[in-house]
Amino acid sequence: MTTLQIPSPSESDGIDVINDFQPSLSTVSTSVEKTATDALVLGVAKSPQGPILLPNPLADEAAKGVADSLKALGATGAPDQLLRLPGMDGFSSETLVLIGVGSLTGEASGGITLEALRRAAGSAVRQLGSVESVAIALPASTVEQVGAIAEGAAIGAYSFNHFRSSEEARTSTPVRDIQILTELKDKQTRAALDRAAVVGSAVRATRDLVNTPPSHLFPESFADIVTELADRTKAPAHAGGSARAAKVKTKVWGEKELARDGFGGILGVGSGSSRKPRLVRMEHSPAKPVAHIALVGKGITFDSGGLSLKPAAAMTTMKLDMGGAATVAAVVRAVADLNLPVKVTGWLCLAENMPSDTAQRPEDVITIHGGKTVEVLNTDAEGRLVLADGLVAASAEQPDAIIDVATLTGAQMIALGVRTSGVMGNEDLREALVMAAEDAGESLWPMPIPEEARSGFDSEVADLTNLGDRFGGMMNAAAFLREFVGNRAGASAEALDPESSRIPWAHVDIAGPAFNEKGAYGYTHKSGTGVMVRTLISYLEGLSR
Ligand code: BES
Ligand code: MN
Ligand code: ZN
Repeated sequence: MTTLQIPSPSESDGIDVINDFQPSLSTVSTSVEKTATDALVLGVAKSPQGPILLPNPLADEAAKGVADSLKALGATGAPDQLLRLPGMDGFSSETLVLIGVGSLTGEASGGITLEALRRAAGSAVRQLGSVESVAIALPASTVEQVGAIAEGAAIGAYSFNHFRSSEEARTSTPVRDIQILTELKDKQTRAALDRAAVVGSAVRATRDLVNTPPSHLFPESFADIVTELADRTKAPAHAGGSARAAKVKTKVWGEKELARDGFGGILGVGSGSSRKPRLVRMEHSPAKPVAHIALVGKGITFDSGGLSLKPAAAMTTMKLDMGGAATVAAVVRAVADLNLPVKVTGWLCLAENMPSDTAQRPEDVITIHGGKTVEVLNTDAEGRLVLADGLVAASAEQPDAIIDVATLTGAQMIALGVRTSGVMGNEDLREALVMAAEDAGESLWPMPIPEEARSGFDSEVADLTNLGDRFGGMMNAAAFLREFVGNRAGASAEALDPESSRIPWAHVDIAGPAFNEKGAYGYTHKSGTGVMVRTLISYLEGLSR
């Protein structure tokens, strides 16, 4: 089997959810005669003097010909500008493709940043769509540059067509064969390609999960897919015994188990739906871990708002509301595929938020795992309720740090827009994540948890309500979540500073960035983006360096 399937509620033959499509990534030496591909991609940079053709493998005369005609062709070097030219004598690619890389920067980065390379390669591969093979000739004289080009291309090679009815549309794939022109061919370069393949798979899997409609993705099917995804992890060579042994272990709480263990947040949010909620725990547990990090993901497979019903216009895109859980699932699997020496546990808090006579009501009081009570004043503030259960459960295992990822608030978009995620919580962890994001080429911005935020959740009847002050909604939500992060074992109960006894924790709000409603750009397609997958992988890689 090459594709993960879930039984469709209406058909017997199932629908693909996660496509196992994997482009082949390879390097080839810069002698163009050898690259027989459909397209040879060259970079064009923007400069005050006009467009510049970046160093390329064409013979001098051919290169001069292209460079001299850039202006006449209308090439500007602007990011995402793609021009197709016919192939020329002297090299074996069918067509010549020019991709804009934007303005060049200081020479510290060789004039072009790694993120500019990721985007240029990703944009070209994305726009070339159903072409079979491409050779990419962008600046690639370092392992990092080759890695960035490979990563961008692997993420750009994506399409979501499982739900088209025509056979042709359903089976068409993006660019399959990606060749990167470079003189490097050492072990590190090969490793960079392998890493890019894993990262590409993780981002594409996250997008697939987010893009899958709520008719097909609901807590039970989500849990099934994740279990299958974990089972498919490549077993390490040294595993011995059964070669098919899974590296990622999973445990699923069904309705009964959730009730038995008192997961009142997940049960409360899920109570309005006929599709029952789930909690999934994933674990990657290497032999000698340098640290244990817990990841907690919001997995609302559809957020109608519940009885505090959303207006129709706000309800479309709400299939995205499991983006945090999808990110966590994909990252745990990637960490296993990369054999990182970090123990990572993933907690997926899965529920469908629907209105019905069995739904939770505004003013209900629910009991979160561990005993804290919450007065539900707005059933649309449901993400924090399921995450509360997950944070308490994660805390009980005493990890070195907890990171939660969630499409939590509309306020995130008001504060930071649709491309910048917000991170709140423990200062050191927050800064480490911001740095990891910078390395990964993702936009993540630190935000405070204001001192007045917590009192907004004071309740007349329970420990707290789920509805804080309206202004600063993203940061206020973090103050609610913080109440459910446990203390470090052995931390003195009388510690003067609660921050010092708490398990280091960070909350990442990806409400806007998880889903691209506007046009595609760089390696980012429309709809699900897979944002923060690369940042989290970079962060976890950094722990063992
Ligand atoms: N899932 C939404 C947040 C969201 C909104 C994500 C738009 C992506 C795009 C969340 O559950 C929600 O409804 N939040 C409310 C909270 C409010 C009721 C306190 C919001 O942001 O309006
Ligand atoms: Mn909601
Ligand atoms: Zn939600």
